[in-house]
Amino acid sequence: MQDFKRDTIDTATTSWVASYRRLTEVVIPRPIALVATVDPDGNTNLAPFSFFTVVSSNPPFIAFAPHRVGRTGSKKDTLRNVEQVREFTVSVVNEEIAERVNNCAAPLPYGDSEFEHSGLTPVAAERVKAPLVAESPVALECTLEEIRTYGDEGGAGSLVVGRVVLMHFDPAVRDPVEGRVLPELLRAVGRMGGSLWCRTRDTFLLDRPS
Ligand SMILES: Cc1cc2nc3c(=O)[nH]c(=O)nc-3n(C[C@H](O)[C@H](O)[C@H](O)COP(=O)(O)O)c2cc1C
Repeated sequence: MQDFKRDTIDTATTSWVASYRRLTEVVIPRPIALVATVDPDGNTNLAPFSFFTVVSSNPPFIAFAPHRVGRTGSKKDTLRNVEQVREFTVSVVNEEIAERVNNCAAPLPYGDSEFEHSGLTPVAAERVKAPLVAESPVALECTLEEIRTYGDEGGAGSLVVGRVVLMHFDPAVRDPVEGRVLPELLRAVGRMGGSLWCRTRDTFLLDRPS
């Protein structure tokens, strides 16, 4: 057998915070969903989530994972709103709005809007009550498909799966002939470990094996 020398972390005997740090340092780069929701009274909420991916193409489902607040175990406002209103939008985060999006992660009291706090602008969506973000070039309107919850203590995640019912693209980020979204025009950013973010400009091509 070939020698395999690694440091190991047994998650059963390690604090969840240490495991969380190592996981978020190695599951990189993570795309960032800027999730807009409303509460039952129509108050808007906006927050970034990098535990985010596409989970099904047919039907078109995406998912993100809000965690229980570390110290208190309370639900994040986004989860509370999605549970009640069952709709949300996801906007793509690019270099232009990264700093304002980061400001949306401030722990504001429930009902206070991160739109005002960050300076980002809400725009009415077509099919859902949650707003779109005017400054983002791409937005997805989603209806809630399901929520799976993995505990109720600090750090416990809930997987929020949404059906993408309508997609919006700024023509400025698309190839006008084929309609493809061009990464060099989109300039999306991602999250890495700690407070580290990344750009998506360093790309390379590999053809799929036939
Ligand atoms: C780039 C970025 C990515 C984040 N990703 C997540 C995530 O995937 N899950 C999570 O629970 N919190 C994540 N956070 C923290 C939340 O955005 C933060 O707790 C926010 O205040 C939640 O807002 P809400 O209570 O209005 O829902 C992230 C923060 C930043 C800046």
